[in-house]
Amino acid sequence: MTFSATPEAGPVNPQATTPAEAANRPLMQIDGLKMYFEITSGILMSRHVGDVRAVDGVSLSIRKGETVGLVGESGCGKSTVGRTILRLYRPTAGRIVFDGQDITRVEGSSLRAVRRRMQMIFQDPYASLNPRMTAAGIISEPLEIHGVSSGRERRDRVRDLLATVGLDPDYGDRYPHEFSGGQRQRIGVARALALHPDLIVADEPISALDVSIQAQIINLLEHLQDEFGLTYLFIAHDLSVVRHISDRIAVMYLGKIVEVTGSRDLYERPLHPYSVALLSAVPIPDPAVETRRRRIILTGDVPSPSNPPSGCRFHTRCWLRERLGNPERCVEEEPVLREMATGHQVACHFAEEVDGTAEQVQVTGRPGRGAPVGSAGAAAGVAGGVVAPTAPEGPQPRPRPRG
Ligand SMILES: Nc1ncnc2c1ncn2[C@@H]1O[C@H](COP(=O)(O)OP(=O)(O)OP(=O)(O)O)[C@@H](O)[C@H]1O
Ligand code: SF4
Ligand SMILES: [Mg+2]
Repeated sequence: MTFSATPEAGPVNPQATTPAEAANRPLMQIDGLKMYFEITSGILMSRHVGDVRAVDGVSLSIRKGETVGLVGESGCGKSTVGRTILRLYRPTAGRIVFDGQDITRVEGSSLRAVRRRMQMIFQDPYASLNPRMTAAGIISEPLEIHGVSSGRERRDRVRDLLATVGLDPDYGDRYPHEFSGGQRQRIGVARALALHPDLIVADEPISALDVSIQAQIINLLEHLQDEFGLTYLFIAHDLSVVRHISDRIAVMYLGKIVEVTGSRDLYERPLHPYSVALLSAVPIPDPAVETRRRRIILTGDVPSPSNPPSGCRFHTRCWLRERLGNPERCVEEEPVLREMATGHQVACHFAEEVDGTAEQVQVTGRPGRGAPVGSAGAAAGVAGGVVAPTAPEGPQPRPRPRG
């Protein structure tokens, strides 16, 4: 069985270009983005037998200077979103607008020009750096590909970049194996910065690093954002990682965004049952609260993205649905993202029911109505009726200038 990108389809709308719209428009806007990978079978005659619906109708906007965290379990489509918006793939459907330009279908020199402004930092600093190239060679590669500078000027730029990411400019002659994991990731960051990008997709940039190094890389990314006005899509599978760096967080499940809101809001008032479950795995730095918390263990396997469940894709594992007596609506009707409060969108038919439940109260550590936990809560491993004290949740994301 083999996979290939499913051919693109669907119309592309023209861009709005009035001056007011141009001033307010997001740096990146994606609408109904789909990225399917074809599943084919047969050796001599290849037959299309299905699609991996890695991204299946994602809409999201990222403002200039903002950090949006994209979170979800392994395989939910986070990296595919990142790669598709950078146009490393041709989307199956939907629209990608970067700084007012529809880039859904651009190719050739237009695509190269756009790619200069968008870069990626990869998860694994060991695998993503060519072991046969020196640090200087790796960092100057994008300059070479795009024909930017040469000779002395390029060498100086590489030295500047090494210094910018906190490495000794004389380390340019060294090979990746001569650096630690954190230093290698700094080289990856320097490479991403080489062309003065506007948008950086950081795909789990710290997950492969030692915990003691992770904070250094986060601090570096924050510092660079302030210095160069960068915009980040920060991908992680763990909500504790994105908490401090993100202005807003989008939670993904099986190819779709199920909740998107401000970072603080997500931690204080998650309204999708899946977000609540993810949050239950994030420790609260208050021993009194933490000892009473229970992790919500989602039952059932993660369904296949080539054959997602009908209606709400989360219905096979949803603790709230079980609590509500397994309503058919969850199986029959797909929930759309709807605005529950300003800037807080949730794709759940029963999101109102989440507010104030014991599960939500427990994971946030804030007071609520403490709804009694029924059989579903017990099945999910949730302690019943706990109303946690009003406790600060630890440090909140730093205020960040916008625009
Ligand atoms: N090039 C490809 N060809 C076929 N299937 C793919 C391809 N890339 C990704 N997929 C599939 O698409 C789905 C989403 O993958 P993706 O890598 O985007 O998930 P992810 O959320 O980044 O996961 P992880 O946290 O493990 O990195 C998975 O089922 C994956 O197997
Ligand atoms: S729509 Fe139903 S299954 Fe989906 S998250 Fe809401 S309650 Fe759970
Ligand atoms: Mg990934």
